[in-house]
Amino acid sequence: MNTARPVTILTGASRGMGRALAELLLQRGHRLLTLQRHPSLLPAAHDTDAQAWAVDLSDPLPVAERLQAWIAALAPSQVSALTLINNAALLVEPGPLAAADLGAISRATRASLEAPLLLTAAFLRASAAYAVPRKVLNISSGLGRHAMAGSAVYCADKAGMDHFSRAVALEESAHAAGAAIVSLAPGIIDTDMQVQLRSADAMAFPEQQRFADYKAEGRLDSPHSAAEKLLAYLDRPDFGRKVVADVREPG
Ligand SMILES: NC(=O)c1ccc[n+]([C@@H]2O[C@H](COP(=O)([O-])OP(=O)(O)OC[C@H]3O[C@@H](n4cnc5c(N)ncnc54)[C@H](OP(=O)(O)O)[C@@H]3O)[C@@H](O)[C@H]2O)c1
Repeated sequence: MNTARPVTILTGASRGMGRALAELLLQRGHRLLTLQRHPSLLPAAHDTDAQAWAVDLSDPLPVAERLQAWIAALAPSQVSALTLINNAALLVEPGPLAAADLGAISRATRASLEAPLLLTAAFLRASAAYAVPRKVLNISSGLGRHAMAGSAVYCADKAGMDHFSRAVALEESAHAAGAAIVSLAPGIIDTDMQVQLRSADAMAFPEQQRFADYKAEGRLDSPHSAAEKLLAYLDRPDFGRKVVADVREPG
């Protein structure tokens, strides 16, 4: 295909909200590159340009280097916009930090915070050569803004994501054609991550009942509906004006 179209890089497209985002982006004609450990679970792509890398973002440096080279090799005449969506995240078994497995803490933080940081750096550097709109959407969480016992690692990873987004927004605003960046809380969504939280050991995770109640009371958004809201947010003309945001806030 020779016409210019939007190019989107999406992490964690094999399950949950990322899978729904991938389906919608493909329907909307984006050229899609997805990054996850299990690409066999991805929605079928009829777009021959769609690519899925089987990568472990708990080892993000080689992935970021590969992404930088991939973006640099795109044909500029075929790119109308460039977007990075850092969606993948990995939870540690809910419970006190003092009881958490050290390797699990490291893997979760590398996938949920180090990877978004490195991929954002690679994206900003390689995409600066293209005279097209550039956006970074970091999928954050209310838990980056409100502490919860039993979720110290996740709280830290999402708070770090929010704060590096603030710093990058300041850096990019110094450039005439700087990228826009938003760290966006997506609401509460019926995915494997919620299953992990409501199935946790209530003795170790005092908030377990809260997550069980979300499901029982029908308060969870569907992955498809949440993905629609995120893409509508990405399309907003004022995307990037508010760097740390919540999709549930009025527009
Ligand atoms: N669900 C909620 O209620 C909720 C609330 C607030 C924020 N969020 C945020 O929304 C985003 C999506 O959450 P979700 O609920 O859809 O999560 P999910 O169902 O657990 O899916 C997580 C995705 O991340 C990928 N992933 C996890 N570890 C990875 C690794 N080491 N390397 C590569 N990919 C990895 C998984 O793919 P593979 O297993 O194939 O690697 C999967 O596609 C996350 O950032 C999450 O923190 C979710």
